[in-house]
Amino acid sequence: MNSDIAKSSAADFAIKLVKKNMKIGLGTGSTARIFVKKLAKIIKTNSLEIIGVPTSNSTMELAKELGIELANLNEVGKLDFVFDGADEFDPHLNLIKGGGGALLQEKIVAKSAKEMIVLADESKQVNFLGKFPLPVEIIRFGSDKTISLVKEYLADHFGKAPTITLRQKNETPFISDESHFIIDIFLGKIKEPKRLNVQLNSIVGVVETGLFTDIASSVVIGKNDGSVEILK
Ligand code: A5P
Repeated sequence: MNSDIAKSSAADFAIKLVKKNMKIGLGTGSTARIFVKKLAKIIKTNSLEIIGVPTSNSTMELAKELGIELANLNEVGKLDFVFDGADEFDPHLNLIKGGGGALLQEKIVAKSAKEMIVLADESKQVNFLGKFPLPVEIIRFGSDKTISLVKEYLADHFGKAPTITLRQKNETPFISDESHFIIDIFLGKIKEPKRLNVQLNSIVGVVETGLFTDIASSVVIGKNDGSVEILK
């Protein structure tokens, strides 16, 4: 697939930033998986001593299989980099993440890294975030109430209540690694991502949103012809 070439080119570029003795956050999703596999290879080939901090159970399993040394975030504290994918990114490096359901750990790990390097194929590039439904992690208790509060807030600020779906997996609600639900909000166009993130986070029952603002340091945009472009 063409997008695999694009994702792989972005990962190839990013891998060159890895130096010995670094502590690295390992993202979640198909692009991050490509990066993690390449990372395992260079750790072996160049005998690098790298400690990885995964952002999800699935990445943890993959990294373990590949023999990458792992630690939990509390043990390592500050990370040199986190390399992660995104569902959308805009020209100001705002992101939507959480398509894979790992937004909460991803955001905490990203906040712990000196630099967040986003690896994305060019299909993720948008002028305004929001075409991709915004994932928001919510507490399971009283989830209907939380959803109606989110709807009410958005109806007031967007003019009409957006469609909100409770994410499903195998016909039952999807449960995140932190045992929460995820809702997906169909907004179309998010004009003020920073403000929306703050407002949604202030609603009772909301744990965290998939809006990453003022977090990413750069986006490595992989192209289908194998080239990359860097957005800083
Ligand atoms: C996981 O929760 C997400 O934030 C992913 O990083 C995002 O969905 C990108 O995934 P892909 O690399 O598979 O497109």
